[in-house]
Amino acid sequence: MVKVTLKDGVNWVGVVDWNIRDFHGYITRRGSSYNSYLISDEKTALIDTVKVAFCNELIDHISELTNLEEIDYIIVNHVEMDHSSSLPTIAKMAKNAKIIASTRGKEELIKHYGADFEKVETVKTGDEIKLGKRTLRFLEAPMLHWPDSMFTYLVEDKILMPNDAFGQHLASSGRFDDEVDEHVLMEEAVTYYANILMPFAPLIVKKIQEVVDLKIPIDMIAPSHGIIWRKDPMKIVKAYIKWCSNESKQKVIIAFDTMWGSTDKMAKAIADGIISQGVEVNLFKFRATDNTDIVTEIVDAKAVLLGSPTINNGMFPSLGTFLTYITGLKPKGKLWGFFGSYGWGGGAVRGMIKMVKEAGFEVFEPGVEAKWVPNAEELKKCFEFGQQIAQKIKA
Ligand code: FEO
Repeated sequence: MVKVTLKDGVNWVGVVDWNIRDFHGYITRRGSSYNSYLISDEKTALIDTVKVAFCNELIDHISELTNLEEIDYIIVNHVEMDHSSSLPTIAKMAKNAKIIASTRGKEELIKHYGADFEKVETVKTGDEIKLGKRTLRFLEAPMLHWPDSMFTYLVEDKILMPNDAFGQHLASSGRFDDEVDEHVLMEEAVTYYANILMPFAPLIVKKIQEVVDLKIPIDMIAPSHGIIWRKDPMKIVKAYIKWCSNESKQKVIIAFDTMWGSTDKMAKAIADGIISQGVEVNLFKFRATDNTDIVTEIVDAKAVLLGSPTINNGMFPSLGTFLTYITGLKPKGKLWGFFGSYGWGGGAVRGMIKMVKEAGFEVFEPGVEAKWVPNAEELKKCFEFGQQIAQKIKA
């Protein structure tokens, strides 16, 4: 491995997963990395491990810097298996190491990997471990994004290791923000925020404020996925504040599915109505676009319009999948509208509205429907629906 040094004595020993394309349903078309860090002082600490498929690679990377038996502490910032599934093996090899986690982290480790993890020592916010010249300080971050999550701050080197927060699914040869394309980096950062962290936006804002109030200087943010922020660590913090604040622009997302082209025609007529009002619109067809990307597009949109033909008295399965996903992600401050074609009884528009209302979304009613193939009058209604949505978000 080419040595990757954050600061003298602080090295990246993680792995790059060039080939992952599906991270539990999140489409990772640029791969990912599982970042693990080795801190070498009078005592040695390993921060997080990696997905078990890459355990041998992690062992090789650590072994280039130290014997695993020399590790004194293994810090488990987060128990999700992409960061902990190598831990049982690493813990056996690093037989002199104490394993450190939050209280919830200890519970989860025992449930994941068994009674061997009863020996885990727990830490809470403000606790410190002296490594020699360096100090590890812990900050619990429950629900960012699991109950166990915590941040580790390397005091003297001013490096924040926040695990999943501020990460990106991005495989790259560069390990730092100044070594990769900035646009690609921010695109992957917002995709990661949208698909992993969006439900926790209010907690993120509070946690960022807590870190600001601690007045701890931060030279680098070293997350557990993707690149390390060293050129401008505040860039990603400011971006998170913007995304979490639901700052949006005059932009509408239309996402739809279609059986024989009728709902497609409606989508385009609605889009024309929106464009006629000078508002930006992007169209996506489900089954042609991954939900991962549609969710990301929604982050800065003021309105989202979903279209579905009726099938078997209900919505298309692709809409059911998407609505299950998006209502769980809880985007705030959007206006939602619905449209679709039907043959006899209808049901798709009604079903979609019911589902998002139950999730507390703001709905523009009524939706717009067309029987069989939309005629000129129905397409005019679609156009006017688009105009009304545009005018509403401009108001
Ligand atoms: Fe990257 Fe929540 O695991």
